[in-house]
Amino acid sequence: MGRPKISVIGAGNVGSNTALFLFLKDLGDIQLYDINGDLAAGKALDIMHLASIWGTNSKVTGSGEIKDTADSDLVVITAGKRRTADMSRDDLLLQNAEIITSLVDTIQQESPRSYIIMVTNPLDVMTHLALEISNFSSSRVMGMSGVLDAGRLAFFIREKQNVAMENILTTVLGGHGDSMVPLSSSTFIGGRPLDEVMDSSSIEEVVERTRRAGGEIIKLMGMSSMYAPAAAVWKMAQAILRDEKLILPCSVYLQGQYKLSDVFLSVPVLLGQKGVEEIIELPLDNGDLKALHSSAEEVKELTRKLNIN
Ligand code: 2OP
Repeated sequence: MGRPKISVIGAGNVGSNTALFLFLKDLGDIQLYDINGDLAAGKALDIMHLASIWGTNSKVTGSGEIKDTADSDLVVITAGKRRTADMSRDDLLLQNAEIITSLVDTIQQESPRSYIIMVTNPLDVMTHLALEISNFSSSRVMGMSGVLDAGRLAFFIREKQNVAMENILTTVLGGHGDSMVPLSSSTFIGGRPLDEVMDSSSIEEVVERTRRAGGEIIKLMGMSSMYAPAAAVWKMAQAILRDEKLILPCSVYLQGQYKLSDVFLSVPVLLGQKGVEEIIELPLDNGDLKALHSSAEEVKELTRKLNIN
């Protein structure tokens, strides 16, 4: 692959910060698209103004022309409606499904060899929809959730333990919602299992806070998180574009793994130049497996509302 082209769809808070992270990390040339072309162009220009200060040769351009995303190697989708007070979850689901259907239809025509990283909520369902519409192989379509959720769990543990962040290894499985499964059995601090380092009520506290972390931010600032989701996308994009063979939790299409099929859920996967190169099955105890299955049921219930498969 030469210099990769990465398109970021949606120039809102997550989209523009994603473009910024990809630019600062010099992962390739970035096309920012938004239905409001001036917003995308303005944010791209603002980022370009820091090129000489930061010392990078990456290029970011922005427009309201979806065709400008043609021939992308990787497409990140952040576009979608935010839920407003007068909107039910189902309204959000149906309106975002309409937006994603039309975007992915164009992406599969204009960038037929790209990878898709979905960020739009409800994330697991939108990723499933992208797979159906694109007809891409499931190794090329994935959702950003587990990296964010595992990052949050690590931070909440760090708040309680006086240990370097890089010594904390966390994994979060399941749907990107209240039913996610922060996996204390696969969380290690300097190689020691979490339950040897923290008491059970502290573990329960950090697990619960991880489940509610997105909502905690919305409550504080009246809008969704943006920096951590953008950083999580960067980590996934870099693993793919630089063939890092990095194992990260991502929302991927399960076909028998964890005894689940036809559903997108976050599980650890090996990311490299072929996208999702391997889905890793962690040994789960009965409680965690049950929690994963009930998370799958929640995601499937929403997916059924879109009449996919
Ligand atoms: C989050 O978890 C909204 O998915 C976003 O913060």
